[in-house]
Amino acid sequence: MENMTRVIAGTAFHTPNRNKMRPLRDCAIAIDAAGTIQSVTTPGDTDHESILARAEANGSLFTLPEDSYLIPGLVDLHIHAPQWPQLGKALDAPLEDWLLKYTFPLEAKFADHAYAFEVYDDLVATLLAHGTTTAVYFGSVDLKANIILAEACLRHGQRAVIGKVAMDDPDTCPDYYRDPSAEDAIAQTRAFIDAVAALQDGQNGKVPLVHAAITPRFVPSCTDDLLHGLGALAAETGARVQTHCAESDWEVEYVRNRLGKTDAEALKDFGLLTDKTILAHSNFVTSSDMTHLAHAGASIAHCPLSNAYFANAVLPVRRALDHGVKVGLGTDISGGFSPSLFDAARYALMASRCACSGTEPSVTAKARGTGEAPLTTTEVFWLATKGGANAASLPVGAFEPGAQFDAIAIQSGGATSGFRRSDTDTMQDIFEKLVLNATAAAISKVWVAGAEVKTRPEQAR
Ligand code: GUN
Ligand code: FE
Repeated sequence: MENMTRVIAGTAFHTPNRNKMRPLRDCAIAIDAAGTIQSVTTPGDTDHESILARAEANGSLFTLPEDSYLIPGLVDLHIHAPQWPQLGKALDAPLEDWLLKYTFPLEAKFADHAYAFEVYDDLVATLLAHGTTTAVYFGSVDLKANIILAEACLRHGQRAVIGKVAMDDPDTCPDYYRDPSAEDAIAQTRAFIDAVAALQDGQNGKVPLVHAAITPRFVPSCTDDLLHGLGALAAETGARVQTHCAESDWEVEYVRNRLGKTDAEALKDFGLLTDKTILAHSNFVTSSDMTHLAHAGASIAHCPLSNAYFANAVLPVRRALDHGVKVGLGTDISGGFSPSLFDAARYALMASRCACSGTEPSVTAKARGTGEAPLTTTEVFWLATKGGANAASLPVGAFEPGAQFDAIAIQSGGATSGFRRSDTDTMQDIFEKLVLNATAAAISKVWVAGAEVKTRPEQAR
């Protein structure tokens, strides 16, 4: 296998742990044929020079230009793929009205498979160009459209978790857009899990790129029978689970009125809180809910931009992390209007700062906000990379031996990169500028599982 090893050389930034950015100056990352990182060395390490020399000799060395930096690929934990045509519009109604007025009619259109192909091809290419190497997608109700999304991810080389959306309650879901029964939704979910496995048969030795997730839309869209059946399917298959949890006052009230408990308690009792569960939003989870999540090993997809429209509250991220809950970031396309996970990281920073200080100027400074320490630049970068990888149970998010090499190269300078260095910048300065300023135009290369998948954003079209 020796001759299959490739080496990427250059300066990298990563955050294996939440509180500390680790610069890897002039490092060499050796990657095997399956895209797995074999070694990460820096000048002075015993093997460093020989690894570089060997790769150079056999033509398998790629050296990043001096003006560029390597970072782990971004992990977006919450995207509604069929809402892509709606990005940036229709944000004038509360969640429960928005679903009926705009979103269910749009998602229903994905039963047209030519339409699904066209939209998903553009979505996957565009997200890769924004540096999203792992995408966790809600699909739509229609089974085949979700297979088309899985095929788009495989074709473009994006790592993904995808769910066939299950929603069967005639009280809350329109006739034109719902599963005909709980049994049918469970059977179709099972069929989707099998279809995703079949798409990747015969990839000997490779980590599968696409995974299926059991995806009840949220408790209000699903009957008890469906939620119960999907919980049993999760136990039987060990598949990932994703759903929305405690996103808004309306959702919390609805679940309390129907089931007499919190959303998180309901999901737990239906068997839907596992160590592979990703809960979108979760703004209103109680301290006791956080303990349930931590015990189960479930994670939260924090979607700060969408929360500004639909949630009526800011998720106390630090409180969740302090409870031992896994947390990462989501764009929540199209509840959030930006496809960029860099933007999600920046909105997470801003939301945490507003929550800390409060926002009403007529209230005294002391009483105005929560006072909980806001997130740092390093922490939001960790949420966008390693935190998200942990939440999605995927071996990515940092440059560590054994992890998959999913990475993006960010180039400084130029009129549209947003990211420029000055002579006095330290490595920490450059890192912070990259996190806060880099645009999609600064992304010069994208790798998933060791394979280069995209170069310039304009070529994604
Ligand atoms: N809750 C149930 N469905 C949705 C959705 O499509 N978007 C958001 N943000 N919340 C939801
Ligand atoms: Fe959502």
